Amino acid sequence: MYKIYDTVDEVARYTAQRLLNRIQARPDPVLGLATGSTMEPVYAQLITELRKTPVDLSRLTTFNLDEYIGLDGSHAQSYRYYMCQNLFNKVNIAQDRVHLPDGLVEDVEGACQAYSATIKALGGLDLQLLGIGSNGHIGFNEPHTCFSSRTHVVRLSEQTRIDNGRFFSTRAEVPTHALTLGIQDILEAKEILLVATGRNKARIMAELFHTPVDEALPASALKLHSNVTIVLDREAAAQLPPQVSSGGGLAAAVAGPEISMAEGAVASTK
Ligand code: GLP
Repeated sequence: MYKIYDTVDEVARYTAQRLLNRIQARPDPVLGLATGSTMEPVYAQLITELRKTPVDLSRLTTFNLDEYIGLDGSHAQSYRYYMCQNLFNKVNIAQDRVHLPDGLVEDVEGACQAYSATIKALGGLDLQLLGIGSNGHIGFNEPHTCFSSRTHVVRLSEQTRIDNGRFFSTRAEVPTHALTLGIQDILEAKEILLVATGRNKARIMAELFHTPVDEALPASALKLHSNVTIVLDREAAAQLPPQVSSGGGLAAAVAGPEISMAEGAVASTK
């Protein structure tokens, strides 16, 4: 299902509300969290909501999607640091229930297996929050990652290193490898929210809409899942067929744009 809003603020409000709903739906919720610029307003909104209406987060467990290899959690560009700055340090979340892959771990294989296994042991992710890379990656699952993958090491593509280079002072500082939850782990989440904002995401969102399930476009794996919501602002939705409906399913897009267009109703959920 697509949800298309006029502004980034509205995207953040909707997404934060969906996270809150999930958190409140059961006493010990398990969330899959994402990083990136797209999620900053989402977490800011979530914090605002939690200040207005406090919710007990003491039994919330979180698993982040990914982490750079070689960066310590105190490095300003590590995803652990990002999560502490943008969320964990600002809400009453239990720090021992927060999980991120460890970018400095020695037994990488063992740590990867344990990461996926821990999620399973807890009954799986209730909701997985996702951003998207300009090449269609989800987490750090780069194009041609096997859809049956579990947590693993990836070599970052040149495109990803260029895109993420904006956060580092020189290109040489951008890590070459990362740890990421696998596509299969992501697909096992009960519910998935993919969020994209800004005109830089318009091309990949159109490509995702038109591409059938294909390992060359990692996010197309989401077409195999029955409970995915794609939340966009107008800029990110700009290259979608004009009448992609807010209720239109992503799976329907596999068969071609006509289906969603025929449904007619309009994108704006304002
Ligand atoms: C990184 C992360 C992804 C994220 C993507 C988009 O590569 N590994 O999980 O979805 O960036 O980031 P942004 O929101 O900054 O465009």
